[in-house]
Amino acid sequence: MHGLCCALPLMLLLSVSPGNSSTVNPCCYFPCQHKGVCVQVGTEGYECDCTRTGYFGTNCTLPEFWTRLHEALRPTPAFYHFILTHFQWFWTIINNTFIRDVLMRLVLTIRANLIPSPPIYNSAYGYITWEAYANVSYFTRVLPPVPRDCPTPMGMKGPSQLPDAQLVAEELLQRKTFQPDPQGTNLMFAFFAQHFTHQFFKTSGRMGHGFTRALGHGVDLGHIYGDNLERQHELRLFQDGKLKYQMVKGEMYPPTVLDAPIHMIYPKHIPPEEQLATGQEVFGLLPGLMLYATIWLREHNRVCDLLKREHPAWDDEQLFQTTRLILIGETIKIVIEDYVQHLSGYYLQLKFDPELLFGVQFQYRNRIAVEFNQLYHWHPLMPDSFKIQNQEYSYNQFVYNTTMLTDYGVEDLVEAFSKQQAGQIGGKPNMPRQLLNVAVGVIEESRLLRLQPFNEYRKRFGMKPYTSFQELTGAEETAAKVEALYGDIDAVEFYPGLLVEKNQPNAIFGESMVEIGAPFSLKGLLGNPICSPEYWKPSTFGGAAGFEVVNTASLQKLVCLNVKRCPYVAFRVPDGQEGGGAAPSSGSSGEKEPSDEL
Ligand SMILES: *[C@@H]1O[C@H](CO)[C@@H](O)[C@H](O)[C@H]1NC(C)=O
Ligand SMILES: *[C@@H]1O[C@H](CO)[C@@H](O)[C@H](O)[C@H]1NC(C)=O
Ligand SMILES: *[C@@H]1O[C@H](CO)[C@@H](O)[C@H](O)[C@H]1NC(C)=O
Ligand SMILES: *[C@@H]1O[C@H](CO)[C@@H](O)[C@H](O)[C@H]1NC(C)=O
Repeated sequence: MHGLCCALPLMLLLSVSPGNSSTVNPCCYFPCQHKGVCVQVGTEGYECDCTRTGYFGTNCTLPEFWTRLHEALRPTPAFYHFILTHFQWFWTIINNTFIRDVLMRLVLTIRANLIPSPPIYNSAYGYITWEAYANVSYFTRVLPPVPRDCPTPMGMKGPSQLPDAQLVAEELLQRKTFQPDPQGTNLMFAFFAQHFTHQFFKTSGRMGHGFTRALGHGVDLGHIYGDNLERQHELRLFQDGKLKYQMVKGEMYPPTVLDAPIHMIYPKHIPPEEQLATGQEVFGLLPGLMLYATIWLREHNRVCDLLKREHPAWDDEQLFQTTRLILIGETIKIVIEDYVQHLSGYYLQLKFDPELLFGVQFQYRNRIAVEFNQLYHWHPLMPDSFKIQNQEYSYNQFVYNTTMLTDYGVEDLVEAFSKQQAGQIGGKPNMPRQLLNVAVGVIEESRLLRLQPFNEYRKRFGMKPYTSFQELTGAEETAAKVEALYGDIDAVEFYPGLLVEKNQPNAIFGESMVEIGAPFSLKGLLGNPICSPEYWKPSTFGGAAGFEVVNTASLQKLVCLNVKRCPYVAFRVPDGQEGGGAAPSSGSSGEKEPSDEL
């Protein structure tokens, strides 16, 4: 009796819609705004925990005084994007002042603060648990899954059964004609993206969706050294810290699986003497991936030589381990100052300097999120065919082609990939037909893992939810297609939403890809332990010379210090070459891979 007397008024107070739909879990409405946490109370009541959100009220919608002020002054993402991508003369001045550091620190802290750290949820737990924290086999996630007992897959909105994933991909994503990226992005960038991200996007085939095999959860270079110790040992020469290699026509390449007996994924018809062994199992798939594997292998062995000159007394183990840290540093430097710099289109010159964060609160840890994996399916970058010198290769000729790398050599492939334009990622249907099954897989995975709607992610990352399909797509025809599939703007799914969103002017994708992707990316890069005050010092990298290698790394040097003839190398096509079309689609590959393995 006692319990009942007090529970009753509470339930009435909290019930969402008294009288009807009495069994609906109220959290299906996603009632809690501004990162408030929804907790079901009784069967039809809920509470929003607004602690430290800066808001209060039933749904965390009422701003506290300082929040109100802050919100009034906060520029919209579109506004600062405009400023950062215009007024080059202004940025040339800023670039040489202390203001560059101030802005870079601001970029890093504002972005990284959007990522919960330590991580909170995963696909099995939509509430905080020790299991979600401690079991690193899970990808984490920023928003909890849509509760299982909701009326529709997207919570309350949209159809009770989502349109077929294949249909969504065909209607909204499939390329009609190749759309070149207006930022001039090239295939050298596309393959870097693929190579780099596959150290931390490794969905576990054995444990299934929502689980990862890359337990380092970040830039650990598992794609070079393997994701476990056994694999690493097979790849190592155990001499001067070096990795195993083979020489072909006087040049260094990865060893074959005969020499480094590890599991690599190749079709059966390819004999072991043609299968190259790398840290990542799938890199035999494309010559562009094996190209980067080769470049990093050469870099590793080059840095080992350099360290050995500095430290003749060091043993193999110390040379190996220190070289690995140097290559991690080089990777982060190149990703921020070459890769993200290019992608952002910003005139602000980005800077990799961990010391920028030493005065602020920052957690040196990272956990890879399902949402990050989902959004990073940038397959529209891929062309219809691959042009190398005067030859054009179809997907059939390119995929699992084990001789192309050594046929042409590193120089010629770098030059060809640097000069061939990549596709625009968002805004237009640009997913190559040959890769449409990848997009279908992404959509199916997001349903399995019950990802929240695109608009909920917009809100979570500080943007206004879209109120109409027209506002989302900026194009009537696309708007009509999206509406026909989803019916309600609040039911649009995460990945399709990111790709159909209208682009920023002359950019590779829309606002949400940047605003949601950048926080994951920057947190992952700066959250690396080498960026912490204890690690970030010359001795960690074998002294001044090793530290210098990290602090002066660039894409250009990475390639040119490891080849005989320095080719044109960049993440964008040469000036004046933007906007070039490509040959019509040819060939088709029936490769079926786990969703993030291609
Ligand atoms: C809180 O959100 C629910 C669900 O969206 C809504 O029905 C209710 O009116 C909101 N309450 C207040 C006080 O805003
Ligand atoms: C910024 O300054 C650096 C060094 O002072 C210079 O190398 C670089 O070209 C400048 N970048 C821009 C965009 O002005
Ligand atoms: C992590 O969770 C999965 C699923 O419950 C389980 O199979 C696995 O054994 C867990 N891993 C560890 C290290 O406990
Ligand atoms: C692989 O690439 C080479 C060019 O390097 C080409 O001659 C060969 O035909 C390709 N292999 C296949 C199976 O298409």
